Amino acid sequence: MSEQLVWWRNAVVYQIYPKSFADGNGDGVGDLSGAASRLDYLQALGVDAVWFSPIFPSPQCDGGYDVSDYRDIDPLFGTIADAERFIQEAHKRRIRVILDVVPNHSSIEHPFFIEAMKTSPGSAAWQRFHCVQGKGANGELPPNNWQSIFGGIAWTQIRNETGAPTGWWYLHLFDSGQPDLNWNHPDVVKEFDDTLRFWFDRGVDGIRIDVAQGMVKQAGYPDVKDVNDATLLDPHARPYFDQPEVHDIYRRWRKIADSYDAPRVFVAEAWLDTPEKRARYLRADELHTGFNFDLLTAEWNAEAWKRIITDSIAADALVGAPTTWVTENHDVRRSPTRYGGRVVHRQVATPQHLALGRVRALAAMHTILALPGTTYLFNGQELGLEEVIDLDDAQRQDPHFHRTRGEHLGRDGCRVPMPWSRTGVSLGFGPPTGSQPWLSQPASWAMLSVEAQEASPSSSLNRTRRAIEVRRTQQALLCGALEWDNDRCKDGVVVFRRVFAGHPTVVCIANMGSTTTPAVAGDLLCTSGDLVGGEVPPNTTAWFATRD
Ligand code: NOJ
Repeated sequence: MSEQLVWWRNAVVYQIYPKSFADGNGDGVGDLSGAASRLDYLQALGVDAVWFSPIFPSPQCDGGYDVSDYRDIDPLFGTIADAERFIQEAHKRRIRVILDVVPNHSSIEHPFFIEAMKTSPGSAAWQRFHCVQGKGANGELPPNNWQSIFGGIAWTQIRNETGAPTGWWYLHLFDSGQPDLNWNHPDVVKEFDDTLRFWFDRGVDGIRIDVAQGMVKQAGYPDVKDVNDATLLDPHARPYFDQPEVHDIYRRWRKIADSYDAPRVFVAEAWLDTPEKRARYLRADELHTGFNFDLLTAEWNAEAWKRIITDSIAADALVGAPTTWVTENHDVRRSPTRYGGRVVHRQVATPQHLALGRVRALAAMHTILALPGTTYLFNGQELGLEEVIDLDDAQRQDPHFHRTRGEHLGRDGCRVPMPWSRTGVSLGFGPPTGSQPWLSQPASWAMLSVEAQEASPSSSLNRTRRAIEVRRTQQALLCGALEWDNDRCKDGVVVFRRVFAGHPTVVCIANMGSTTTPAVAGDLLCTSGDLVGGEVPPNTTAWFATRD
C-alpha cells in the first residue's frame, strides 16, 4: 500500500482539547474558528494530523463526552460549516483530521433518552439503554454493585412524571448524564453506522473511539468481585469491559471505513491491562491503531520504559499493527508535574520540581518521537505546560471532582487554556477584547507562551519543532526497525537504534539516569537539551545519525 494510504502508521497526531486550544469568538471557550486560525502554527509544528476531543452538541457534563447529537456541532464550538472549513483548510496543509466518537454512552439530552423518559421503564424506547429493575421489595436498591468510574454507583433510579421512584434503574459507567447505550439494539447500531458515514462523507480522515473496550455488557449484569477496584487507570476484566462481542462491532465498522477512498482509520481508546489484550482490537479486520497508555502512567525510569517499549512492540507485531505512544492527554496530569517528583492531591509542585519535570518531559517527548509507530501530543505539551493544581474549586467542571466531592481533584488541571502570547486577558487564547478563559491560566504561563518560546531557539517549542522535522526527514525514524543497544542500556540509560537499509541509522540515547553518558560517533540530529562536553547529560534525550 502506498505511503499516502498508511500515513497513520507513523504519524505525529496533535490532540486538540477544543475548549482549551484557541478561542475565536472571545467567549472564553475554545472553538473551531480559533482552531482554524492556528492551523499555520500546527503546520509549522509539523504534525500530520489533529484529533479533536468531542465537538458535538452536548450539555457538557463531561467536557463533551456526553453527546446529545452525534451528527452536528455544538454551538459552543461553531457549526457544521465551520467543521467543513476546518477540514478543508487542514487538508490544504496536509494535516489530517480525526474526530472523537463516543459510542459507549450518549447524553440524557440525546433524543433516544428524551424519548425513553416519556415512557414507562421496560418500554421499547428504554430498550436502547440498560434499564433494569432494582433489587429489594420495591426495586429501591440498584440492580448490582457496579461503580461509576467517576465515583458513586453506576445506576440512577428512574422516576415517573410525578417524580416518584419507579424501581427501575439505568446504567451509567460514567456520570449520570451519560447513560450507557444497549449495543444489542439495532437502533443503536444504526445510529453509529450513520454517524461514521456522516463524518467520513465530510472528509474526516479518522475516528477515535471513546471507551472502545466498553459497549457490550455481560448478560444478567453480574456483580463485580471487588467494587473498590473500578478506576479509569486500573481496568481489570469486568462484566462491562472487553467482552468478546465488542470485536463484532469493530469488524462491521472496519468495512465502513474501508469502503472509502482513501480508507478512513480508527484509533481505539481502550484501557486494558496487557498489551496482548489491546492487540486483539488491532487485528487486520478490526481497528487500525489503539492508544498505548503504558507510558502515560509510567514513571521516569529507564527499566520501566525499556520493558514497556519491548512488550508493546512485540504484542502489536503479532497482529501487524503499529504501536502508539502517549505521554499526555486530557485525562491525566501533565508530564512536567508527573516527572518532577511526587505531588499528591492538592500539593502544588515547587519551582525546582517543575524545572526538573519540564526537562524530563521534553526528553520523554524526544524519546517517543524516536520510536516506531504513531506519536500523540496533547495541546500545550510542546510548550512544557504543567498541571494547574491550585484552580479555584468553583471553576472545576470535571464530574470526577464533583462526584467524589473533591476527593479526586479531577482533570481540569491539564485542560487549562493554551497561552499564545505574553500579555492580554487570556494570554492570546482569545481576542484581546475577549472574556477571561473558562479556566484561569497561571500568570507564569506568559513566559511559556508560544510568543515567548518562539523567541528562544532552545525553547521547548523550538526543540519539539526540530524533532518533528528531523523525524520527517529520516527514513529510519519513519520506517526503520528498532534494535536495542543492550550493552549501553544500563545505569538509567535507554539506547536504541532505528535501522532502515540504505539510509543512515538513527541512534536515540535517553538518559534517565543520574550521570552523564557518552554520545555516539555520528551527527547530532537533535537533542532535548544541550550536550555537556559532547556527552548526553541526565534527563536528556539526543538523536544521532550514523552510517555503521
Ligand atoms: C475517556 C475520555 O478520554 C474521558 O475524558 C471521558 O471522561 C471518558 N472516556 C468517558 O467518556
